[in-house]
Amino acid sequence: MESRVQHVRTLLRIGADDVCFIGIWGMGGIGKTTIARAVYHQISYAFDGSSFIEDVRENGSDEKGLKSLQKKLLSEILMEEDFKVKNCHDGVSQIRRRLSRKRVLVVLDDVDDIMKLEFLAGSHEWFRHGRRILITTRDEHVLCNAQEHNVPDLLNETEAMKLFSRHAFKADIPPKEYEKLSGVVVSQTGHLPLALKVLGCHFCGRRLNFWQSGLNALAKIPDKKINKALKLSFDGLNILEQKIFLHIACFFKGKKRHYITRILDCLGLEAASGITVLIEKSILTTSNGYLHMHDLIQEMGRCTVRECYSNNLVLCPKEIKEVMTTITVSTILITD
Ligand SMILES: Nc1ncnc2c1ncn2[C@@H]1O[C@H](COP(=O)(O)OP(=O)(O)OP(=O)(O)O)[C@@H](O)[C@H]1O
Ligand SMILES: [Mg+2]
Repeated sequence: MESRVQHVRTLLRIGADDVCFIGIWGMGGIGKTTIARAVYHQISYAFDGSSFIEDVRENGSDEKGLKSLQKKLLSEILMEEDFKVKNCHDGVSQIRRRLSRKRVLVVLDDVDDIMKLEFLAGSHEWFRHGRRILITTRDEHVLCNAQEHNVPDLLNETEAMKLFSRHAFKADIPPKEYEKLSGVVVSQTGHLPLALKVLGCHFCGRRLNFWQSGLNALAKIPDKKINKALKLSFDGLNILEQKIFLHIACFFKGKKRHYITRILDCLGLEAASGITVLIEKSILTTSNGYLHMHDLIQEMGRCTVRECYSNNLVLCPKEIKEVMTTITVSTILITD
Protein backbone atom coordinates (compact mmCIF):
# COMPACT_ATOMS: atom_id res chain seq x y z
CA MET A 1 0.00 0.00 0.00
CA GLU A 2 2.70 2.43 1.05
CA SER A 3 3.88 3.66 -2.37
CA ARG A 4 0.29 4.09 -3.56
CA VAL A 5 -0.69 6.04 -0.44
CA GLN A 6 2.42 8.19 -0.73
CA HIS A 7 1.61 9.07 -4.34
CA VAL A 8 -1.87 10.34 -3.42
CA ARG A 9 -0.43 12.29 -0.48
CA THR A 10 1.99 14.02 -2.87
CA LEU A 11 -0.88 14.98 -5.20
CA LEU A 12 -2.83 16.44 -2.26
CA ARG A 13 0.00 18.92 -1.42
CA ILE A 14 -0.93 19.09 2.26
CA GLY A 15 0.03 22.46 3.72
CA ALA A 16 -0.48 24.44 0.48
CA ASP A 17 -3.07 27.18 0.86
CA ASP A 18 -5.18 26.64 -2.26
CA VAL A 19 -8.27 24.50 -2.81
CA CYS A 20 -7.38 21.09 -4.13
CA PHE A 21 -9.60 18.45 -5.70
CA ILE A 22 -7.98 15.09 -6.42
CA GLY A 23 -9.48 11.87 -7.75
CA ILE A 24 -8.58 8.20 -7.58
CA TRP A 25 -10.00 6.40 -10.58
CA GLY A 26 -10.00 2.71 -11.48
CA MET A 27 -11.97 -0.48 -11.85
CA GLY A 28 -13.84 -2.06 -8.93
CA GLY A 29 -11.61 -3.97 -6.54
CA ILE A 30 -8.33 -2.29 -7.47
CA GLY A 31 -7.97 -0.63 -4.05
CA LYS A 32 -9.30 2.95 -4.40
CA THR A 33 -11.23 2.97 -1.12
CA THR A 34 -8.38 1.27 0.70
CA ILE A 35 -5.90 3.90 -0.48
CA ALA A 36 -8.28 6.80 0.31
CA ARG A 37 -8.92 5.44 3.79
CA ALA A 38 -5.20 5.06 4.53
CA VAL A 39 -4.51 8.61 3.29
CA TYR A 40 -7.40 9.94 5.38
CA HIS A 41 -6.13 8.28 8.56
CA GLN A 42 -2.62 9.60 7.98
CA ILE A 43 -3.46 13.25 7.28
CA SER A 44 -6.83 14.15 8.82
CA TYR A 45 -5.14 15.44 12.02
CA ALA A 46 -3.67 18.34 9.98
CA PHE A 47 -7.11 19.89 9.21
CA ASP A 48 -9.67 21.94 11.17
CA GLY A 49 -12.22 19.24 10.42
CA SER A 50 -12.56 16.12 8.32
CA SER A 51 -15.13 13.66 7.05
CA PHE A 52 -14.98 10.37 5.16
CA ILE A 53 -18.25 9.77 3.32
CA GLU A 54 -18.51 6.12 2.35
CA ASP A 55 -20.22 4.65 -0.66
CA VAL A 56 -21.83 7.78 -2.10
CA ARG A 57 -23.18 5.72 -5.02
CA GLU A 58 -25.32 3.54 -2.81
CA ASN A 59 -25.98 5.78 0.20
CA GLY A 60 -26.73 8.88 -1.87
CA SER A 61 -28.92 7.22 -4.46
CA ASP A 62 -31.97 9.40 -3.73
CA GLU A 63 -32.76 12.83 -2.23
CA LYS A 64 -33.24 11.38 1.27
CA GLY A 65 -29.91 9.57 1.15
CA LEU A 66 -28.04 12.63 -0.14
CA LYS A 67 -29.57 14.78 2.58
CA SER A 68 -28.35 12.41 5.26
CA LEU A 69 -24.85 12.37 3.72
CA GLN A 70 -24.86 16.19 3.85
CA LYS A 71 -25.89 16.03 7.52
CA LYS A 72 -23.13 13.52 8.26
CA LEU A 73 -20.55 15.71 6.54
CA LEU A 74 -21.60 18.85 8.42
CA SER A 75 -21.81 17.17 11.81
CA GLU A 76 -18.47 15.34 11.48
CA ILE A 77 -16.62 18.47 10.43
CA LEU A 78 -18.28 20.88 12.84
CA MET A 79 -18.53 18.26 15.58
CA GLU A 80 -22.15 19.14 16.28
CA GLU A 81 -25.01 16.68 16.57
CA ASP A 82 -28.54 17.02 15.18
CA PHE A 83 -28.08 19.09 12.07
CA LYS A 84 -31.34 20.19 10.47
CA VAL A 85 -31.18 20.01 6.67
CA LYS A 86 -34.52 20.78 4.97
CA ASN A 87 -33.56 19.48 1.54
CA CYS A 88 -30.46 18.94 -0.63
CA HIS A 89 -30.34 22.60 -1.71
CA ASP A 90 -30.50 23.74 1.89
CA GLY A 91 -27.71 21.25 2.63
CA VAL A 92 -25.49 22.74 -0.09
CA SER A 93 -26.04 26.27 1.17
CA GLN A 94 -25.20 25.22 4.76
CA ILE A 95 -22.02 23.52 3.50
CA ARG A 96 -21.10 26.73 1.69
CA ARG A 97 -21.92 29.02 4.62
CA ARG A 98 -20.42 26.99 7.42
CA LEU A 99 -17.42 25.31 5.82
CA SER A 100 -16.06 27.79 3.28
CA ARG A 101 -13.64 29.44 5.73
CA LYS A 102 -12.33 26.22 7.21
CA ARG A 103 -9.36 24.05 6.26
CA VAL A 104 -11.23 20.78 5.79
CA LEU A 105 -10.47 17.36 4.41
CA VAL A 106 -13.39 15.56 2.75
CA VAL A 107 -13.19 12.10 1.21
CA LEU A 108 -16.12 11.13 -1.01
CA ASP A 109 -15.89 7.44 -1.69
CA ASP A 110 -17.33 5.74 -4.76
CA VAL A 111 -18.96 8.73 -6.46
CA ASP A 112 -20.87 7.81 -9.63
CA ASP A 113 -22.52 11.09 -10.51
CA ILE A 114 -21.33 14.70 -10.86
CA MET A 115 -24.61 15.98 -9.38
CA LYS A 116 -23.93 14.12 -6.14
CA LEU A 117 -20.46 15.63 -6.10
CA GLU A 118 -21.93 19.12 -6.34
CA PHE A 119 -24.38 18.43 -3.51
CA LEU A 120 -21.60 17.22 -1.23
CA ALA A 121 -18.56 19.23 -2.23
CA GLY A 122 -20.05 22.41 -3.72
CA SER A 123 -18.01 24.59 -6.00
CA HIS A 124 -14.29 25.45 -5.93
CA GLU A 125 -14.92 29.20 -5.87
CA TRP A 126 -16.71 29.10 -2.51
CA PHE A 127 -13.71 27.82 -0.64
CA ARG A 128 -10.32 29.06 0.46
CA HIS A 129 -7.71 28.13 3.03
CA GLY A 130 -6.32 24.81 1.90
CA ARG A 131 -9.46 22.73 1.56
CA ARG A 132 -8.79 19.20 0.25
CA ILE A 133 -11.33 16.98 -1.49
CA LEU A 134 -10.39 13.41 -2.36
CA ILE A 135 -12.78 11.42 -4.51
CA THR A 136 -12.77 7.77 -5.48
CA THR A 137 -14.72 6.67 -8.53
CA ARG A 138 -14.96 4.01 -11.19
CA ASP A 139 -16.09 6.63 -13.67
CA GLU A 140 -13.46 9.00 -15.05
CA HIS A 141 -16.13 11.45 -16.18
CA VAL A 142 -16.89 12.32 -12.53
CA LEU A 143 -13.37 13.75 -12.27
CA CYS A 144 -13.67 16.21 -15.17
CA ASN A 145 -13.13 19.15 -12.76
CA ALA A 146 -10.38 17.52 -10.71
CA GLN A 147 -6.93 19.11 -10.74
CA GLU A 148 -5.22 15.72 -10.81
CA HIS A 149 -6.22 12.13 -10.78
CA ASN A 150 -4.43 9.02 -9.75
CA VAL A 151 -4.94 5.61 -11.35
CA PRO A 152 -3.67 2.96 -8.92
CA ASP A 153 -1.40 0.39 -10.56
CA LEU A 154 -2.37 -3.24 -10.38
CA LEU A 155 -0.02 -5.11 -8.05
CA ASN A 156 3.22 -6.38 -9.58
CA GLU A 157 3.95 -10.12 -9.49
CA THR A 158 5.77 -10.10 -6.14
CA GLU A 159 3.15 -7.90 -4.47
CA ALA A 160 0.32 -10.02 -5.88
CA MET A 161 1.91 -13.24 -4.62
CA LYS A 162 2.46 -11.64 -1.21
CA LEU A 163 -1.17 -10.53 -0.90
CA PHE A 164 -2.44 -13.93 -2.05
CA SER A 165 -0.09 -15.83 0.31
CA ARG A 166 -1.09 -13.71 3.28
CA HIS A 167 -4.69 -14.78 2.80
CA ALA A 168 -4.02 -18.35 1.70
CA PHE A 169 -1.13 -19.24 4.04
CA LYS A 170 -0.90 -16.39 6.58
CA ALA A 171 2.67 -15.90 5.33
CA ASP A 172 4.38 -13.66 2.76
CA ILE A 173 5.37 -16.54 0.44
CA PRO A 174 3.70 -19.88 -0.24
CA PRO A 175 5.16 -23.16 1.10
CA LYS A 176 7.38 -24.94 -1.44
CA GLU A 177 4.78 -27.55 -2.47
CA TYR A 178 2.16 -24.85 -3.19
CA GLU A 179 4.43 -22.48 -5.14
CA LYS A 180 3.41 -23.59 -8.61
CA LEU A 181 -0.33 -23.80 -7.90
CA SER A 182 -0.23 -20.38 -6.22
CA GLY A 183 1.45 -18.96 -9.32
CA VAL A 184 -1.42 -20.26 -11.49
CA VAL A 185 -4.08 -18.75 -9.19
CA VAL A 186 -2.27 -15.42 -8.95
CA SER A 187 -2.05 -15.14 -12.73
CA GLN A 188 -5.78 -16.04 -13.00
CA THR A 189 -6.62 -13.02 -10.84
CA GLY A 190 -4.87 -10.58 -13.18
CA HIS A 191 -3.25 -9.24 -9.95
CA LEU A 192 -6.49 -7.55 -8.92
CA PRO A 193 -6.31 -7.10 -5.11
CA LEU A 194 -9.97 -7.96 -4.64
CA ALA A 195 -9.63 -11.21 -6.56
CA LEU A 196 -6.35 -12.10 -4.80
CA LYS A 197 -7.99 -11.68 -1.43
CA VAL A 198 -11.12 -13.63 -2.28
CA LEU A 199 -9.20 -16.51 -3.84
CA GLY A 200 -6.58 -16.51 -1.08
CA CYS A 201 -9.37 -17.01 1.45
CA HIS A 202 -10.95 -19.64 -0.78
CA PHE A 203 -7.81 -21.82 -0.79
CA CYS A 204 -6.77 -21.11 2.79
CA GLY A 205 -6.21 -24.30 4.81
CA ARG A 206 -7.05 -26.60 1.88
CA ARG A 207 -5.13 -29.69 0.77
CA LEU A 208 -3.40 -30.17 -2.58
CA ASN A 209 -6.27 -32.14 -4.13
CA PHE A 210 -8.71 -29.32 -3.29
CA TRP A 211 -6.35 -26.87 -5.01
CA GLN A 212 -6.15 -29.02 -8.10
CA SER A 213 -9.90 -29.36 -8.47
CA GLY A 214 -10.34 -25.70 -7.51
CA LEU A 215 -8.02 -24.68 -10.32
CA ASN A 216 -9.88 -26.84 -12.81
CA ALA A 217 -13.16 -25.26 -11.73
CA LEU A 218 -11.62 -21.80 -11.76
CA ALA A 219 -10.63 -22.25 -15.36
CA LYS A 220 -14.32 -22.70 -16.21
CA ILE A 221 -16.35 -20.77 -13.63
CA PRO A 222 -14.99 -17.93 -11.53
CA ASP A 223 -15.37 -18.03 -7.77
CA LYS A 224 -18.88 -16.93 -6.95
CA LYS A 225 -17.68 -14.22 -4.56
CA ILE A 226 -15.40 -12.61 -7.13
CA ASN A 227 -18.19 -12.81 -9.60
CA LYS A 228 -20.54 -11.05 -7.21
CA ALA A 229 -18.03 -8.35 -6.43
CA LEU A 230 -17.24 -7.77 -10.08
CA LYS A 231 -20.91 -7.80 -10.97
CA LEU A 232 -21.28 -4.53 -9.04
CA SER A 233 -19.71 -2.70 -11.99
CA PHE A 234 -22.16 -4.36 -14.37
CA ASP A 235 -25.22 -3.54 -12.24
CA GLY A 236 -24.33 0.16 -12.38
CA LEU A 237 -24.67 0.30 -16.20
CA ASN A 238 -27.81 1.24 -18.13
CA ILE A 239 -29.54 -1.39 -20.29
CA LEU A 240 -27.77 -0.47 -23.55
CA GLU A 241 -24.36 -0.38 -21.87
CA GLN A 242 -25.06 -3.76 -20.24
CA LYS A 243 -25.92 -5.26 -23.62
CA ILE A 244 -22.80 -3.82 -25.25
CA PHE A 245 -20.69 -5.21 -22.43
CA LEU A 246 -22.29 -8.67 -22.67
CA HIS A 247 -21.80 -8.81 -26.44
CA ILE A 248 -18.14 -7.85 -26.12
CA ALA A 249 -17.60 -10.30 -23.23
CA CYS A 250 -19.13 -13.12 -25.29
CA PHE A 251 -17.95 -12.41 -28.81
CA PHE A 252 -15.65 -9.46 -29.36
CA LYS A 253 -12.98 -9.21 -26.68
CA GLY A 254 -9.63 -8.27 -28.23
CA LYS A 255 -11.18 -7.20 -31.57
CA LYS A 256 -10.83 -3.77 -33.20
CA ARG A 257 -12.91 -1.03 -31.60
CA HIS A 258 -14.10 0.24 -34.98
CA TYR A 259 -15.25 -3.23 -36.05
CA ILE A 260 -17.13 -3.85 -32.78
CA THR A 261 -18.78 -0.42 -32.93
CA ARG A 262 -20.01 -1.05 -36.46
CA ILE A 263 -21.56 -4.43 -35.62
CA LEU A 264 -23.18 -3.33 -32.36
CA ASP A 265 -24.54 -0.19 -34.00
CA CYS A 266 -26.35 -2.44 -36.47
CA LEU A 267 -28.11 -3.97 -33.46
CA GLY A 268 -29.25 -0.48 -32.39
CA LEU A 269 -27.06 -0.39 -29.28
CA GLU A 270 -25.54 3.11 -29.72
CA ALA A 271 -22.14 1.49 -29.40
CA ALA A 272 -19.85 4.52 -29.84
CA SER A 273 -21.06 6.26 -26.69
CA GLY A 274 -21.65 3.01 -24.77
CA ILE A 275 -18.09 1.81 -25.38
CA THR A 276 -16.73 5.16 -24.21
CA VAL A 277 -18.74 4.80 -20.99
CA LEU A 278 -17.42 1.24 -20.48
CA ILE A 279 -13.85 2.51 -20.89
CA GLU A 280 -14.49 5.37 -18.45
CA LYS A 281 -15.85 2.86 -15.97
CA SER A 282 -12.71 0.70 -16.33
CA ILE A 283 -14.74 -2.25 -17.57
CA LEU A 284 -13.04 -2.12 -20.97
CA THR A 285 -9.54 -1.00 -21.78
CA THR A 286 -8.25 0.14 -25.13
CA SER A 287 -4.85 0.00 -26.76
CA ASN A 288 -3.85 0.65 -30.37
CA GLY A 289 -7.48 0.66 -31.48
CA TYR A 290 -8.32 -2.74 -29.92
CA LEU A 291 -10.71 -3.37 -27.01
CA HIS A 292 -9.78 -5.58 -24.06
CA MET A 293 -11.32 -6.55 -20.77
CA HIS A 294 -10.06 -8.27 -17.66
CA ASP A 295 -10.53 -12.08 -17.75
CA LEU A 296 -12.56 -12.12 -14.53
CA ILE A 297 -14.80 -9.37 -15.82
CA GLN A 298 -15.32 -11.33 -19.02
CA GLU A 299 -16.22 -14.45 -17.04
CA MET A 300 -18.63 -12.44 -14.92
CA GLY A 301 -20.28 -11.24 -18.15
CA ARG A 302 -20.54 -14.76 -19.49
CA CYS A 303 -22.06 -16.02 -16.24
CA THR A 304 -24.58 -13.20 -16.32
CA VAL A 305 -25.55 -14.22 -19.84
CA ARG A 306 -26.00 -17.84 -18.75
CA GLU A 307 -28.21 -16.74 -15.86
CA CYS A 308 -30.28 -14.03 -17.55
CA TYR A 309 -30.35 -14.85 -21.26
CA SER A 310 -30.10 -18.63 -21.25
CA ASN A 311 -32.92 -18.98 -23.77
CA ASN A 312 -31.53 -16.85 -26.53
CA LEU A 313 -27.76 -16.53 -26.27
CA VAL A 314 -25.67 -19.50 -27.30
CA LEU A 315 -22.05 -19.41 -26.25
CA CYS A 316 -19.94 -22.48 -26.74
CA PRO A 317 -19.78 -25.18 -29.44
CA LYS A 318 -21.21 -27.82 -27.08
CA GLU A 319 -24.27 -25.66 -26.36
CA ILE A 320 -24.69 -24.89 -30.05
CA LYS A 321 -24.62 -28.60 -30.86
CA GLU A 322 -27.28 -29.30 -28.25
CA VAL A 323 -29.52 -26.59 -29.62
CA MET A 324 -29.02 -27.74 -33.18
CA THR A 325 -30.18 -31.23 -32.38
CA THR A 326 -33.51 -29.93 -31.14
CA ILE A 327 -34.30 -26.94 -33.36
CA THR A 328 -33.40 -25.69 -36.80
CA VAL A 329 -30.43 -23.44 -37.34
CA SER A 330 -32.59 -20.52 -38.38
CA THR A 331 -34.10 -20.20 -34.90
CA ILE A 332 -30.79 -19.82 -33.09
CA LEU A 333 -30.58 -16.26 -31.91
CA ILE A 334 -27.25 -14.85 -30.99
CA THR A 335 -28.70 -11.59 -29.83
CA ASP A 336 -31.88 -10.95 -27.93
N1 LIG B 1 -2.47 -2.65 -2.14
C1 LIG B 1 -3.28 -3.49 -1.50
N2 LIG B 1 -2.77 -4.36 -0.61
C2 LIG B 1 -3.58 -5.23 0.04
N3 LIG B 1 -4.92 -5.31 -0.15
C3 LIG B 1 -5.47 -4.47 -1.00
C4 LIG B 1 -4.70 -3.52 -1.73
N4 LIG B 1 -5.51 -2.80 -2.51
C5 LIG B 1 -6.75 -3.30 -2.29
N5 LIG B 1 -6.72 -4.29 -1.39
C6 LIG B 1 -7.88 -5.08 -0.95
O1 LIG B 1 -8.69 -5.35 -2.09
C7 LIG B 1 -10.07 -5.22 -1.79
C8 LIG B 1 -10.71 -4.26 -2.75
O2 LIG B 1 -10.21 -2.96 -2.47
P1 LIG B 1 -11.16 -1.68 -2.44
O3 LIG B 1 -12.46 -2.00 -1.79
O4 LIG B 1 -10.34 -0.57 -1.90
O5 LIG B 1 -11.41 -1.52 -3.98
P2 LIG B 1 -12.15 -0.34 -4.74
O6 LIG B 1 -11.24 0.05 -5.85
O7 LIG B 1 -12.56 0.71 -3.78
O8 LIG B 1 -13.40 -1.10 -5.32
P3 LIG B 1 -14.87 -0.51 -5.65
O9 LIG B 1 -14.77 0.25 -6.92
O10 LIG B 1 -15.69 -1.79 -5.79
O11 LIG B 1 -15.32 0.32 -4.50
C9 LIG B 1 -10.18 -4.75 -0.36
O12 LIG B 1 -10.59 -5.84 0.39
C10 LIG B 1 -8.78 -4.30 0.02
O13 LIG B 1 -8.49 -4.62 1.33
MG1 LIG C 1 -14.42 1.35 -3.16
